[in-house]
Amino acid sequence: MKNLVMFGVLTLSLTACGDKGDSGTDRTADILALSGDSAAGETVYTANCSGCHGADGSGSDSFPAINGSAASDAFVNLVLDGAGSMPGFSSLGDQDIADVFAYISTL
Ligand code: HEC
Repeated sequence: MKNLVMFGVLTLSLTACGDKGDSGTDRTADILALSGDSAAGETVYTANCSGCHGADGSGSDSFPAINGSAASDAFVNLVLDGAGSMPGFSSLGDQDIADVFAYISTL
């Protein structure tokens, strides 16, 4: 988990130099057009998200609850680019991100 967070922080600081808003916009539309598989998304979630948002997505004092959240423009952009202390996950595949939202929306 620590390595993943470090990787995320590194990715975020690298992408911060580029035009991350625009690069995210095309991918966001592609991701929203995919249909997610919640079973596959559980694996993505456990590996990348549960450390902060909790195994059941209910968050903690430091991290928001995301259980029940469906994919949207704003949320997909946030996952790609990061926000605040959340690292960006643009290294995940488009299908992985569609899958993880399919899973979160079932929590
Ligand atoms: C290092 C901790 C951390 C990890 C790992 C993490 N998040 Fe977050 N997440 C946050 C924080 C902090 C916020 C609040 C960001 C802000 O708006 O300042 C957040 C916000 C969100 C939100 C928006 C919630 C809302 O209602 O505004 C979504 C959706 C989300 N995360 C999904 C994910 C997904 C999907 C993953 C895994 C791919 C993930 N997060 C991994 C810390 C994390």
